[in-house]
Amino acid sequence: MKIESIRLKNFKAFQKVEMLDIPRFCVLVGANGSGKSTLFQVFAFLKEAIASNVHIALIKLGGSLGFREVRSRNSKGNIEIELKFRAKSDGPLMTYFLSISEEDGSPFVEREILKYRRGSSGRPWHFLNFSKGKGTAVTNELDAVTDVRDLQREDQKLAEEFRTYADRGGQVFVSTLA
Ligand SMILES: Nc1ncnc2c1ncn2[C@@H]1O[C@H](COP(=O)(O)OP(=O)(O)OP(=O)(O)O)[C@@H](O)[C@H]1O
Ligand SMILES: [Mg+2]
Repeated sequence: MKIESIRLKNFKAFQKVEMLDIPRFCVLVGANGSGKSTLFQVFAFLKEAIASNVHIALIKLGGSLGFREVRSRNSKGNIEIELKFRAKSDGPLMTYFLSISEEDGSPFVEREILKYRRGSSGRPWHFLNFSKGKGTAVTNELDAVTDVRDLQREDQKLAEEFRTYADRGGQVFVSTLA
C-alpha cells in the first residue's frame, strides 16, 4: 500500500492541513511541537478506530477527554481524516474519508466514505458511504466489475454509530486500510 496524500481537519495541532504527492521515501523535519509525532498518531488513531471504534481511539489518543482533547483547540468543526492511497503501485487511487463529530459528549461517525475511480475518467465509485451508523456498502467481487451500473449496493446498519464500517473485516479494500 502506498499513501499518496493526507488531509486533516481539527486533528490535534493540525486544524487544516494537506500533504500532497507524498514520495515513497519521506523525511519529516520540523521544530519541536510542530506536529511530526502527531502525523504518525493519525495512523495509530485510524488503526484503532477501525479495529475497535472511534470512541476507544479518541480515548487512547486524548485520554478521558477523548474528542475534546483530540479536536484542535478553539475549533468547532468535526475531526476529519482523508487518505488517498493505492493498494498496489499500479492500482487505482482510492480515497478513504472519516469525519467524526460529537453530540452530548458522545463521538459518532458523521461520515465514512471509501471511493475510487475506475479508469481515467468518470465519477468516482462509492464503495462505502456511511453516516451515523447507516449507509450502503458494495457487495460485489470488485475485480469482476467493469461498469458502475453493475455495482450492488446493500443498505446496512451498524450496531453503534461510533463504529466505522471498515472494522467489519473481509470487505474488499477496507482490509488493506486496516
Ligand atoms: N488538541 C490540540 N489542539 C491544538 N494543538 C494541540 C492539540 N493537542 C496537541 N497539540 C499541540 O501539538 C503539539 C505537539 O506536536 P507534536 O508532538 O506532534 O510535535 P513534534 O513535531 O513531534 O515535536 P517534538 O520535536 O518535540 O517531538 C504541541 O505544541 C501541542 O500543544
Ligand atoms: Mg515528536
